[in-house]
Amino acid sequence: MTTSARKPFRNPRARHNYLGRPCSIAAVGAYVPERVVTNADLEQLVETSDEWIFTRTGIKERRQAAAGEATSDLAAKAAQRAMANAQVSADQIDLIITATVTPDMPFPSTSCLVQQKIGAKRAAAFDIEAACSGFIYALEIGQQFIMSRTYDTVLVIGADKLTSVVDWADRNTCVLFGDGAGAAILQNRPGSHGLLTVCLGADGSKGDVLCVPGGGSRLPASTQSLAQRQHYIRMDGRETFKYAVQAMLAAGKEALTRCELDISQIACVIPHQANRRIIEAVSERLGARPEQVFINLDRYGNTSAASVALALDEAVACGRVQRGDLILLVVFGAGFTWGAAVIEW
Ligand code: UT7
Repeated sequence: MTTSARKPFRNPRARHNYLGRPCSIAAVGAYVPERVVTNADLEQLVETSDEWIFTRTGIKERRQAAAGEATSDLAAKAAQRAMANAQVSADQIDLIITATVTPDMPFPSTSCLVQQKIGAKRAAAFDIEAACSGFIYALEIGQQFIMSRTYDTVLVIGADKLTSVVDWADRNTCVLFGDGAGAAILQNRPGSHGLLTVCLGADGSKGDVLCVPGGGSRLPASTQSLAQRQHYIRMDGRETFKYAVQAMLAAGKEALTRCELDISQIACVIPHQANRRIIEAVSERLGARPEQVFINLDRYGNTSAASVALALDEAVACGRVQRGDLILLVVFGAGFTWGAAVIEW
């Protein structure tokens, strides 16, 4: 489908690009740390097996940042790759939005640290937090600044170092997560419609199903909180799984409906990479054929806010996504939060 053939959608919530200045994703970029942690490595830490991890999750290995490597380091590298791919210089960037649940520190924001690292001196900078759904939330926020003509170039990043909050003694969670960062440059580029719609949702009543209880104002760090392992990820896996399938399915359907699209018109479905069984359940129910669905979970595990950005970058780099293709992103994370976006690449 060519860009010029696209007519305005009847559903006003799908018409982002006709209500304001169109916002396109000029380019993406990603970075993962060098260290690979295999399932065999985890067999040395907890009572688990490569067979259990792979059959229950689809994960073979994940990346782990070095001790001195923080989220802003991963984020800055992903940002620099996106900037190079978009041919955008640091002084062109007006705004940096980083989605993360593992900031370098409570403040300053990771976006401010990235601003310094990449030399984007003109840019305003702030973080948002929507856990694994963060990248889509940040895309939607960034898009609003382009559409309203407030800014011309927005750098959106999804970055997490979840291995810094993983309880390496808890086999229920320590096998699932990895570190990484993905970034996108948003601009108005003539002839490109970019983000066609973004559907977001949240259910705060499920906050305790997947959380890190300690370290905030509710339960500041103390000897007791450390002893009780309150600073690590806690998750009810089964409840998260069930809710994720329902919410991702509903958001994906809503995004397609808003854009008056059938799933067969989507060239590539890019779901949050948490569990292969979740991805397959959502894709099947959306009516997607397996070859439409992009999966790189086997190599990176669940990288939280980086997940779909990392997958989108890889799908573009390997030619699975071509200019003009329609892409469906679908995400789910702690909060609970979820979202779906249709993008014309
Ligand atoms: O990014 C945010 C979204 N997060 C997610 O979407 C994660 C959603 N949840 C999941 O992906 C899955 O629920 C898990 C992969 C976390 C767990 O898979 P499951 O099929 O739901 O397993 P389960 O929690 O029902 O546990 C089954 C058994 C248990 O043993 P018992 O109680 O039946 O004896 C667990 O103790 O598997 C055991 N188990 C393990 N065994 C070996 C749990 N973790 C492991 C492990 N190795 N690593």
